[in-house]
Amino acid sequence: MTNNNFTWILLKWFEENGRDLPWRETKDPYAIWLSEVILQQTRIQQGYAYWERFMQRFPTVNDLAEATEDEVLRYWQGLGYYSRARNLHTAAQQIVALGHFPNTFEDLRKLKGVGDYTAAAIGSIAFGLPVAVVDGNVYRVLSRHYGIETPINSTEGKKEFAALAQSLLPIDQPAAFNQAMMDFGAIQCTPTSPHCLDCPLAERCEALRSDSIGLLPVKLKT
Ligand code: ADE
Repeated sequence: MTNNNFTWILLKWFEENGRDLPWRETKDPYAIWLSEVILQQTRIQQGYAYWERFMQRFPTVNDLAEATEDEVLRYWQGLGYYSRARNLHTAAQQIVALGHFPNTFEDLRKLKGVGDYTAAAIGSIAFGLPVAVVDGNVYRVLSRHYGIETPINSTEGKKEFAALAQSLLPIDQPAAFNQAMMDFGAIQCTPTSPHCLDCPLAERCEALRSDSIGLLPVKLKT
């Protein structure tokens, strides 16, 4: 369990500012998985309507598994990255064959289309697994807050940020912490023009102190 103040300030911010999203009102791993796959490359605003339509037409993993790929693709129309829809359909059949929704990080990772990020998101949100998510929001928030200049697309950087995020995650509140990081990055610590004036972490933010907000995170040109 972390005793870092960063964590508690962030969680308090989340209580007051976290977004009301429909998939946050359920513990159904299927509904949460669906939201995470939709949100992999889609903005919340757009993803919202698709998630609702999917949940209406395919309320359970069985419904999705039994549908034809054509129909699943029709429901996905407009979201792009159609491999996500094909993987979703295949993974639904994997889950039905398994007989239960996978509930460990390793088993979630075996689902088609589920990488480290999505497995950590589903695991923490649906099952309370203490696994930190690491995405662009997390890189941005942590690199700025701690003034870390290690490139986020280097092997070293990926390890460093993953370890830091994991060390900050409170073991008893992984779902809140991970979603707090996502929302904080999306709402407060935005890529350009972050809202430092009313940021509860401002007084301990290394990038703000050294006037390097605009320089972080560092990304190597590839
Ligand atoms: N982006 C991806 N997953 C999300 C979630 N659960 N909440 C907010 N933003 C997200």
